[in-house]
Amino acid sequence: MKEKLELMLVSAIEAMKNATDEAMLQEIRVSYLGKKGQLTSIMKGMGSLSNEERPIVGAVANRVKDQVSETFEEQLKSIKSSVMASRLSHEKIDVTLPGRIKTLGTKHPVTLVTEELIEIFSSLGFCVAEGPEVEQDFYNFEALNIPKDHPARDMQDTFYINDDVVLRTHTSPVQIRSMLKQKPPLRIIAPGTVYRRDSDITHSPMFHQIEGFMVDENITFGDLKGILTTFIHECFGKKVGVRFRPSFFPFTEPSAEVDIQCVICGGKGCRVCKNSGWLEILGSGMIDPEVFKSVEYDSERYSGFAFGMGLERIAMLKYGVNDLRLFFENDVRFLRQF
Ligand code: PHE
Repeated sequence: MKEKLELMLVSAIEAMKNATDEAMLQEIRVSYLGKKGQLTSIMKGMGSLSNEERPIVGAVANRVKDQVSETFEEQLKSIKSSVMASRLSHEKIDVTLPGRIKTLGTKHPVTLVTEELIEIFSSLGFCVAEGPEVEQDFYNFEALNIPKDHPARDMQDTFYINDDVVLRTHTSPVQIRSMLKQKPPLRIIAPGTVYRRDSDITHSPMFHQIEGFMVDENITFGDLKGILTTFIHECFGKKVGVRFRPSFFPFTEPSAEVDIQCVICGGKGCRVCKNSGWLEILGSGMIDPEVFKSVEYDSERYSGFAFGMGLERIAMLKYGVNDLRLFFENDVRFLRQF
């Protein structure tokens, strides 16, 4: 038995020294010292020993057990430290490296203007609504009093998807959609993308508008003037002159285009205002009874006004941008300036 124990000790030490990780080492320890391990099975022979032999073999067994345990602890320590060393060498970071700078984007000027206009009109009690960019003829034209052969269809040369579906040429169809959904009183603004077959220095086939309208009992042209003048003063400053000029839209009667004093020359006359001192910024008018008819509003009881304006144009005037195309090129050197 003593021999068996000495042999076991040698083989246990050998196995443990060859263990390469902690799990393997634990397994080896259990196979020698565990309840069902080699030591236990050797010690089963104790019963057949004489009284003199028993304490001697017992002492050997204890020493073997201690030595195996000691080897185990030593080897565990050395495995742990080599794992740590290899982690340190792989995972080391150079704390002197400069950090990576995150480049922050900026909001597009058209977004900035849209947000500002929403803010101003919200403070006047208007809510935001939206409509689809791919729109049915009915909402874009028909219900807005622009029948099939109406010459006004030329004013907004249209991208047709098919006979009945267009890319909306203005945000006015949101008037129809909102009025069909809700009963008065109504105070809504609707920003969004619109499309026209137009492309030159001052026209883009895709641009943005904001629509606004208010419907209730007793709404007059005075309300239209009051709301729009307040808006312009908030947007361009209290001192800017405002002028309402008679105009025509099929869906408003009477209609007016609104001019502001040129923000570049202050009204003296320059290249931007073509020496007139004035800049047109929006179209507006009292909602035509024909429009109310198509949404089944009683035009004897209700009246309202509507207006629409190009957001790129407002952005150009507010920020002094002189070329419309800059808004669509997305050159970061341009965009970063806002
Ligand atoms: N929809 C018109 C356009 O695109 C603008 C407008 C809206 C005019 C509402 C009057 C009332 O030119």
